[in-house]
Amino acid sequence: MRITVIGCGYLGATHAACMAELGHDVLGVEIDDTKRATLTDGRVPFHEPGLEELLGRHVASGRLRFTDSFAEAGEFGDLHFLCVGTPQAAIGLGADLSAVFAATEALAPHLRRPTLLVGKSTVPVGTATRLAERLAALAPVSAGTELAWNPEFLREGYGVADTLRPDRLVLGVDSERSEKILRGFYSAAIDAGTPVVVTDFATAELAKVSANAFLATKISFINAIAEVCDASGADVTDLADAMGYDPRIGRSFLNAGIGFGGGCLPKDIRAFVHRAGELGVDDAMSFLRQVDEINQRRRAHLVTTAVELLDGRPTGRRVGVWGAAFKPESDDVRDSPALWIAGQLHLRGAEITVYDPRASDSARHTFPTLAYAASALDAARDADLVLHLTEWQEFRDLDIDQVTAVVRRPMLLDGRNVLDFAAWRDAGWTVHGFGRR
Ligand code: UDX
Repeated sequence: MRITVIGCGYLGATHAACMAELGHDVLGVEIDDTKRATLTDGRVPFHEPGLEELLGRHVASGRLRFTDSFAEAGEFGDLHFLCVGTPQAAIGLGADLSAVFAATEALAPHLRRPTLLVGKSTVPVGTATRLAERLAALAPVSAGTELAWNPEFLREGYGVADTLRPDRLVLGVDSERSEKILRGFYSAAIDAGTPVVVTDFATAELAKVSANAFLATKISFINAIAEVCDASGADVTDLADAMGYDPRIGRSFLNAGIGFGGGCLPKDIRAFVHRAGELGVDDAMSFLRQVDEINQRRRAHLVTTAVELLDGRPTGRRVGVWGAAFKPESDDVRDSPALWIAGQLHLRGAEITVYDPRASDSARHTFPTLAYAASALDAARDADLVLHLTEWQEFRDLDIDQVTAVVRRPMLLDGRNVLDFAAWRDAGWTVHGFGRR
């Protein structure tokens, strides 16, 4: 099919390249000139494993192009995917929906034949109905112009695999025609056994925010338990293993540490709380405020612990920070606990040197006042304390003796609870984790 992908950030660029890979002709619409030039060049403006190879291949083959013209998009597409961002609003906890409405209103006047606009962005429940009204008011052939909501569940770092082989498809539709078009479009995944949930707009919108709220709750649950472990001498990692063997619970998302960050979970739970309030069911979602608070507390707790390990006098002490991205396999530093912690310790007077295998550039852009090193070893050089804050495999593979040789004091605080504590202790290090014996 001839499709357009409106908004080519993490979600849109991945969707565009993967749909080209599946044989569709794709036109990406990106209004940011720098981003569009990079994509047109066959390069990806962020780190997503496997994406650049895919994108480059399909830009070269001509199956994937980029434009800033909504007129061209309207002319080209049989199906339009809305993939623009919905960040937290500047004021309040709600989502900023300006890009979603602006893109719909820019495209609608150019929809001159029956077509389907498919929303993939994460939005508060009720948004799709409002967008459908705008579409009906602005599209020249409003009778044949429909909206569907098809939320995207991809994880950064695994975006290509998650898009090519999704674990489920949620189709929020209000006509049989829309369902038929989407089933046809996704036939490869459906034929391969991907489960499909066909539902209404509101359920589709809510399914996405509910899934993210559940994941955030799971992480904050185990982090709250880690606090109890710290107070009682129990070990949260053994405990998570013991819980995780129950198939009703599962082991994933039970890794205690400095908590969740990124462009999705934090802002999505806040937008959910905000929307529940607007709907008059504030009480139903009030526990998410605690989920958020527990999450914030973890970062603050790491800063407090680090200051204590620096004998309460961080000024002028050297701290090596391993990791800046909000999670491994990503260069995304949006609401990253790692970078927040580095920044806080810097504000308390510590001399911070950060190393991240992929996110140093984006971190430098966000936090230019920190020092950045070219390797984990350089970040640790002369350090009084080393913080492990993003669990890249590279940090687990480090030669401990080499690190020991460059630090001033062998003291390690593992904010992700994944390093081999015994091996570091055997090498003479004092090691601290969270909720660990
Ligand atoms: C999330 C959802 O997983 C995805 O389905 C949705 O489409 C977008 O939001 P993502 O933001 O890419 O994806 O990251 P995710 O893998 O969910 O991790 C989120 C954060 O939780 C990271 O900061 C990670 O370090 C943290 N985390 C994850 C934990 O602290 N402990 C865990 O056990 C798991």
